[in-house]
Amino acid sequence: MTTTNKPHSLLTVPTGLLQIPTVAKNTTELSSQDIKLSLVIPTYKESENIPTIVQKLTQLLDDVIPSVYELIVVDDNSSDLTWEVAQNMTPEYPQLQVMRREKERGLSTAVIRGWQAARGKILGVIDADLQHPPETLLKLLAEMEQGADLAVASRHVGEGGVSEWSLIRRFLSRGAQVLGLIILPGVVGRVSDPMSGYFMVRREAIAGKTLSPVGYKILIEVLGRGNVRWVGEVGYVFQERLEGESKVTWKQYIEYLQHLLTLRLAKWPVGRFIRFGTVGFSGVFVDMTVFYLLREAVGLGLTSSAILSAEAGIINNFLWNDLWTFGDISRSQRGWRKRVKRLLKFNLICLTGLIFNVLIINLLFNLLGVNEYIAKLIAITTVTLWNFWVNLKLSWRVTQVDK
Ligand code: GDD
Ligand code: MN
Repeated sequence: MTTTNKPHSLLTVPTGLLQIPTVAKNTTELSSQDIKLSLVIPTYKESENIPTIVQKLTQLLDDVIPSVYELIVVDDNSSDLTWEVAQNMTPEYPQLQVMRREKERGLSTAVIRGWQAARGKILGVIDADLQHPPETLLKLLAEMEQGADLAVASRHVGEGGVSEWSLIRRFLSRGAQVLGLIILPGVVGRVSDPMSGYFMVRREAIAGKTLSPVGYKILIEVLGRGNVRWVGEVGYVFQERLEGESKVTWKQYIEYLQHLLTLRLAKWPVGRFIRFGTVGFSGVFVDMTVFYLLREAVGLGLTSSAILSAEAGIINNFLWNDLWTFGDISRSQRGWRKRVKRLLKFNLICLTGLIFNVLIINLLFNLLGVNEYIAKLIAITTVTLWNFWVNLKLSWRVTQVDK
């Protein structure tokens, strides 16, 4: 009798990369296939809230998916012993598991560590402080069951909102969203409430991706790095905190900006651009050599030599770009017809670039009085960026069919 009342042992804290396994490791006798939902509750000093939230969530989930869900409290060694309070509830709540992190800290990594230990096919997160109404969970679950890859509880759809927020706080929250839209429109623009920390995601959508969130906003990381096609949204009203206090300080705003920039950089094809630049550099030598040969050995006129040698440079660049810079893409678009089409597009784009080059130098030097070498340098940089970007979008475009 006494042994059944002993609290369950704590979950082992995963270490290493923040990566969610495709198939969950079996931590207990239960097969991983059996768990439908793993809901992580990140906590820091929430000892007063944890009994209520666990009780409410259990009551809700026992009704709809009894014994095929798990609640995972991930506590960062709170001084108010939140982890111990939670652990002491485990005999009464068999679906509850607790992780106590002593080495790492931070909301986003806590959520991912929890998901790493999770067995469910659907991974979710909810705040411990009851600011996220537990009832919304069922609507999120319904979205997932209809096929969503990601279901987000949003303050900005349907009957969603905030309770007693000051104008300043609303402004800051919206400002952060607008900033996100400017820096990462393709990510932040996909949901109405990118700041939400209340959502569910299909394991497959993020499994195997290395996540590296900075700060608080885990949803942005999931959207930015995951493979999310269908997004479902459910409105909710962000409740006032009754117990404990928010951990948000100005530091979270800095971290948020840092997070946006990190993701922005990860999304830019930096490696490709460096290869493109290297190829472009090689083209200068081809151009010069052919020009020299045409002038000295063949004895061609200045303009003819310049045109022909420039063309030789362009063909050189095309071949290397097709083989190396965009090799992965051209290998999926084989055949001579397609290759010639790419060459023609590349040629046309480079010629437009040349026209821009001349226009920019003239504008800077003749109209604005910029030093001519600086003008030339600005023109080269601008045109290289132009050539790279347009070729990326038009010549070596990844089409839906290739995927
Ligand atoms: N493990 C762990 N480690 N948990 C943390 C940490 C941490 O360093 N910091 C905060 N938490 C937990 C809190 O205990 C709480 O359960 C949850 O994360 C949210 O923290 P709050 O400090 O209450 O955040 P908030 O209410 O200001 O912000 C919330 O509002 C956003 C909407 O604007 C966050 O929950 C966001 O996720 C939410 O979207
Ligand atoms: Mn809160």
